[in-house]
Amino acid sequence: MKKQIILPALLAFGMALCVYAQSEADYQGWMKDIAATSGKARKAVASKSGADAAESAQHLEGIYKQVGEFFAKRGGADDAVQIAKKGEAAAHDLAAAGSANDADKMASSMQAINGTCGACHMAHRDGQPGAFKIK
Ligand code: HEC
Repeated sequence: MKKQIILPALLAFGMALCVYAQSEADYQGWMKDIAATSGKARKAVASKSGADAAESAQHLEGIYKQVGEFFAKRGGADDAVQIAKKGEAAAHDLAAAGSANDADKMASSMQAINGTCGACHMAHRDGQPGAFKIK
């Protein structure tokens, strides 16, 4: 009788752990992507290449959206959700500015994007380079 209760409970616990580990792995993938893509965007903005900036910005917008949804689902981190929303909006602005070849607006939206990285890392990144964690 006891075994019948414990086994399903253990299975459910194990599955919950796997789902959690999976989403943390996804998260790390997004961060590697956001670092590479924001680097590309920065170069495009510096060289005033509107089309390239717009392309990277569109990709960034999607990553910010996923990051925001991740923190919203996780709960207890409204600030992270807000920062991700800010990044999403700034990436949207950068895409529009790039398409319009508006160098000033490209620079200011890039600055807004840059500001989100440190703001969120200070509040929600734990651990050391190579072994970062979400807090
Ligand atoms: C809303 C929060 C948030 C925003 C915005 C954010 N990050 Fe992160 N970032 C984190 C957290 C939390 C971690 C630690 C977890 C991890 O590494 O998976 C992290 C980890 C990283 C890592 C280490 C990845 C690894 O190999 O473990 C890099 C690089 C990184 N972020 C770059 C950026 C850059 C660049 C930006 C801005 C363009 C940015 N992040 C924006 C929360 C954020």
